[in-house]
Amino acid sequence: MKSKHIILALLALSTLAFGANADSAIWGKDLANNILGYSKEGSMQLGYYFTLLQSTYFKPLFLGVLIGVPVVFFIHYLIIGPMIFSHDRKKIYVFTIFNRIVHTIAAIAFILLIPTGVVMMYGSTFGGGSFVIVCKEIHAIATLLFIISVIPMFTMWVRWMFIHWDDIKWLMIVGGYLNKDKKPVPAGKFNAGQKTWFWLATLGGFIMILTGAAMYFQDFELEIIKSLGLSQIDFLRGSAILHNVLGAGVLALFLVHIYMSVFAIKGAIHSIITGYKEEEEVEILHSSYYKKLKEKNEI
Ligand code: HEM
Repeated sequence: MKSKHIILALLALSTLAFGANADSAIWGKDLANNILGYSKEGSMQLGYYFTLLQSTYFKPLFLGVLIGVPVVFFIHYLIIGPMIFSHDRKKIYVFTIFNRIVHTIAAIAFILLIPTGVVMMYGSTFGGGSFVIVCKEIHAIATLLFIISVIPMFTMWVRWMFIHWDDIKWLMIVGGYLNKDKKPVPAGKFNAGQKTWFWLATLGGFIMILTGAAMYFQDFELEIIKSLGLSQIDFLRGSAILHNVLGAGVLALFLVHIYMSVFAIKGAIHSIITGYKEEEEVEILHSSYYKKLKEKNEI
């Protein structure tokens, strides 16, 4: 009983998570023997799906995201172009220093996690040698940075992130990004797109930490897994599948996040550096929030 808690605590604390893939040590001979020894193979019959997904679908899926999302944004940038807001009006303080520090840690984590994760996904293309192993360890270390930032990020922003009627309206007009009219867009402090990113990055990120930790440690035995009737190998296969599916989603929305912050709204990136947003940007892109601030005489 005690050892179960120690292992769980170790897993939670050390979650040196990172993504496994077709080239990972899950395929290792000795490891597989150990893992299979924990209980019988195939409790969920995941073997077939695991092999199929790993060998056939995940690589094209990630390539599709890596190429498809930037291409769509490139076309958007050419046809519609960036939104430009006046810099002559007031500046509104939206992100505290704490918000910005937490966000910076998450950003650094992802700048390391994403390329190293991609290298692991295409491990054999990169030669499968020491370069991939170094990336695997960088992925694990960067996960520690993400662990540090994910809980504060969740708690500092969650109150703004629940679904609101504005979000449906926002989705119906695709956030106003399909034209350059400066019509007020229905959104609170965060719009539906930002909320989606928040939930995927935090809750999805948390699941990625756990599934990544499972794959990193591999050769362990948890009572909780057994009590669910899962064999270790299927638990690991399930973790790898979940990690890769979520990884593709996180990668796609991360690219969206960068496009929005750096290209689609000119100067938007300054808000997460200085804490201030241009009044016109808030008035147009977060019109409900702007109205509330006005009503409360906060601007
Ligand atoms: C390195 C790349 C990143 C850049 C340049 C960046 C930029 C920004 C900017 C400019 C904002 C303010 C958006 C606004 O309200 O106008 C923001 C907000 C936010 N960022 Fe990032 N960010 C990065 C990485 C990340 C990562 C890795 C995460 C999560 C793990 C993250 C999560 C968020 C969340 C949840 C918000 C609030 C909601 C939103 O605006 O989407 N960001 N970021």
